[in-house]
Amino acid sequence: MKLRLLLAIAALLPCAATGPWASAAGNSTWTATERAVLATLHIGGLPPPPADPSNAVEARPEAAALGKRLFFDTRLSANGQVACASCHAPERGFQDGRPLGQGLATGSRRTMQVMAPAHASWFFWDGRKDSLWSQALGPLEDGAEHGANRMQLVQLLARAYRPDYEALFGPLPGLDGLPAAASPLGAAAEREAWARLSAAQQESVNRAFANLGKAIAAYERRLSPGESRLDRYIAAVIGGRPQDEAALSPQEVRGLRLFIGKAQCVSCHSGPLLTDQHFHNTGVPPRLPLEPDRGREPAVARVKADPFNCLGPFSDAPPGAPDACQELRFIADTDPHMLGAFKTPSLRNVAERAPYMHAGQLATLEQVVAHYVTAPDAAVGHSELARPGQHRTERRPIALDAAEAADLAALLRSLSGPLCEASEGHRC
Ligand code: HEC
Ligand code: HEC
Repeated sequence: MKLRLLLAIAALLPCAATGPWASAAGNSTWTATERAVLATLHIGGLPPPPADPSNAVEARPEAAALGKRLFFDTRLSANGQVACASCHAPERGFQDGRPLGQGLATGSRRTMQVMAPAHASWFFWDGRKDSLWSQALGPLEDGAEHGANRMQLVQLLARAYRPDYEALFGPLPGLDGLPAAASPLGAAAEREAWARLSAAQQESVNRAFANLGKAIAAYERRLSPGESRLDRYIAAVIGGRPQDEAALSPQEVRGLRLFIGKAQCVSCHSGPLLTDQHFHNTGVPPRLPLEPDRGREPAVARVKADPFNCLGPFSDAPPGAPDACQELRFIADTDPHMLGAFKTPSLRNVAERAPYMHAGQLATLEQVVAHYVTAPDAAVGHSELARPGQHRTERRPIALDAAEAADLAALLRSLSGPLCEASEGHRC
C-alpha cells in the first residue's frame, strides 16, 4: 500500500524522470522514482522483528537456546525420526526442495522457508495461525508431519528438558498416573484419553505444550537473511558508486527494471523481504490429483476458533490491552478475494528452493515467469492477474517477450544470500 502511494505521488512529480539523481553512470540509468523504489528493497531497510506480545519469552536468549534444541530433536515425533529441521533444513535455507512436505506421510502443501518469520502477522500458506509459537504447535500433532500428541511431548519435556524448561516457565505439571498419549486431536484412542483428563489436567498440559511452541518461536525469530548481490547493486546505485554496480550483470539489471516496472512484480513482492506478507489469488493451477486448494478463505474461521491464538488463554498478551492482537481482532470475516489466495512468499534465496508455489506446481523460475505472462484463470476464486470486470479474458498487461522473460528469471537468481541466526534485536 505504502509503495503504491509512493509511486502515485512520484508519478505526479513533473521532473521525476529527469531529476538530478538520474545518472548515466555505470551500466544503468535509474530515475529518482526508481531509485526510491530500489531503496525500499535493500536488506538494510529490514527493521528488527516487531514484538509479539503473546509470547513473553521471545526475546530471552535461554528460550532461543531451548527452542533450537527442540527444533532439531527427532524425539518430538511419533516414530522418533521427524524434527522441524527434517523439512526446514538449515543447509537448504530451512526448506526441503520437495514439491510437498514429507514427514510421516506426504502432505498437501509445499514446505515454506523459515526466514525472518517474525515479520509476518499470519503463518502457513493460508495464514491459519496468528503467531510463530502457535504455528509451531500445528506440525507437531499433524499426522503427515511429526504425528506426535501433546501428552507425549509434555512427557518428553519432563524427561529431557526439565531444568531449562522450568527456569523459563516455572514447574512442569505433575504427570504421575497420566496416560502416555492424549490429545484432543489425533487418533481415537488419544482423543478418548484426553476426554478422561480433568479440565485442570488438560489446561496444564495445554500450557506446557504452548510453552514448547514459545521456545521454538524464540529461536526462529532470530533467523535472518543477509546481503545478496541485489543488495550490493542497490547500495552501489543509491550510494553513487558506479564501479560497484557490477554486482549485477547487464541482463540482471534489465530483469530488475522489469521487476519494478512493467512486470509489476514489486506490487506484491515488496520491501526488504520481497513480500507484502499478504494473501493473493494469482491463479496458480492446482496440483493434480489434489483438489483445488481454497487457501486463505477457510483459514479465517480456523484462526479465530484456535485456542492457541493471541486472544486465547495461553497467550501472554494482556487481555484488556487495546493494542494487543489487533490483527486478529480486526480480521475480515468475509472477503471474496481470499478464496484461493495464498501468502506471498519472500523471494530472497528463491533460486535455492525449486519447485515453486504452494504445492510445488512449477518446476523452474522460467515456468514461474511464464505463469505471470499467461495469467490463467483461477481454479477457485478470481486471479488478481486477470483484469477485474466482465471481460475475463482480458489480462493485466504483463506482456514480456522471450528475452525479457529470461531477464526476469536471471534477476531471480541474484537474490541469494546467507541466512544466519542473529542476536535479539539485530539482523545479519
Ligand atoms: C513434514 C515436513 C514439515 C515438518 C516436520 C515441519 N514443517 Fe513447517 N512447514 C511445512 C509445510 C508443508 C508448511 C506449509 C503448510 C501449510 O501452509 O499448510 C510449513 C510451514 C511452516 C511455517 C510457516 C512459515 C510462514 O512464512 O508462514 C513455519 C514457521 C514452520 N513451518 C515451522 C515449523 C516448525 C517450528 C516445525 C517443528 C515444530 C515444523 N515447521 C515442522 C513442512 C514441515
Ligand atoms: C498479485 C500479487 C503478486 C504479483 C503481482 C506477483 N506475485 Fe509472485 N507470488 C505471489 C503469491 C501469492 C505467490 C504464491 C502463490 C501460490 O503459491 O499459489 C507468489 C509466488 C512467486 C514465486 C514462487 C516463490 C516460491 O517460493 O514458491 C516467484 C518466484 C514469484 N512469485 C515471482 C514473481 C515475479 C517474477 C513477479 C512479476 C512478474 C511476481 N511474482 C508477481 C504474489 C504475486
